[in-house]
Amino acid sequence: MRLVKNPAEMQQEATSLKLQGKTIGFVPTMGYLHKGHLALVQKAREECNIVVVSIFVNPTQFSPGEDFERYPRDLRRDQALLLESGVDYLFYPEAAAIYPSNYKTFAEVKTLQDKLCGAFRPGHFKGVCTIVLKLFNLVMPNRAYFGIKDAQQLRIIEKMVEDFNLNIIIVPVPTVREADGLAMSSRNIYLTPQERQAAPLIYQGLLAAKTIIEQGERRAAVIQELIMQKLQNSPLLKPQYLSIVSYETLEDLEYLQGKVLIALAAFLGKTRLIDNLIVEI
Ligand code: PAJ
Repeated sequence: MRLVKNPAEMQQEATSLKLQGKTIGFVPTMGYLHKGHLALVQKAREECNIVVVSIFVNPTQFSPGEDFERYPRDLRRDQALLLESGVDYLFYPEAAAIYPSNYKTFAEVKTLQDKLCGAFRPGHFKGVCTIVLKLFNLVMPNRAYFGIKDAQQLRIIEKMVEDFNLNIIIVPVPTVREADGLAMSSRNIYLTPQERQAAPLIYQGLLAAKTIIEQGERRAAVIQELIMQKLQNSPLLKPQYLSIVSYETLEDLEYLQGKVLIALAAFLGKTRLIDNLIVEI
C-alpha cells in the first residue's frame, strides 16, 4: 500500500494510473475506521483495479462547538486495517495543503443541504461537498463509494455529481451494524456504557416502522408516532429530528410513496447519532 500525503503527488499518481487504463475506486473517509468503512473498501476492491482510501478530518464540515478537535484519530491502526483489506493507496493530506490560508472556493447543493441534518448543522454539507469535490479532482476516481448510513450526504453527493457533470459513478453501500442493530460509527466510542445500552432503540424504532409499512401503513404521522414511542423507552435518548421524506427531494411526505427515506438524529448525552431506513413503495 502506497502512502501519499501530498495532494499534487496524488493527482499525478491518479493521472498515470488513468493513462495505463486502470479503473480507480475511491472511498473518502475521516478515519478511525470500522467495519462500515471496510464494507465500502471491499465493494471498491471487487469492482475496480485500484482502490484509493482517503483519511482527512475535514475542518470545513464541522460547525463551531462540534467535535472537530476531539474527533477520534488513529492513523496507525487505520493503516493496518487498510493494508489487510488490500487497499492500493492511502491518501492522508494535511489541512494546510487542502485549505491554504488564501482558500476561497466552495461547492454547495441548494435546498437539499438545508433539510434534515442540514437544518441543525448549518454549513455542514457545504463543507462536505467542497472536500468531496476537491478529493474527486485529486483522486480522479471512476467510482466512489458512500454509505447509506449517511443517506442525506449520499443524496447530496449524487446531486452534485449530476449538476456538475462529474464523470463518476456513485455507489451506495448498505449500513453495517453491530450485533444489536446499532449502526457502526466512529462516534460510538463517545458513548458511556449506559448510553451504549440505550442506543439500539434507534434501530428498533426503524424496524418497527418497517414492519407496519410492510403491513400497509402509509400515513407518515402514524409511523413517526410509533418510532417516537420506541425512542421514549429510554430517558437517555433525546431525538433531535425524525423525518419521513422523499429520497429524491428530501421534502416531507404526508403519505409514503416512491422511494422514501425515514431519517432521524438523536442525542445520547453529548453524542449525536443518526440512522435511517429507505423503503420503496
Ligand atoms: P466518515 O464518517 O468517516 O464516513 C466515510 C464513509 O463511510 C461515508 O460514506 C459513510 O456513509 C460510510 N459509513 C460510515 N458508517 C457506516 C456504516 N455503519 N455502514 C456503512 N457505511 C458507513 O462521511 C464522512 O466520513 C465524511 O463526511 C466524508 C464523506 C469523508 C467527507 O469528509
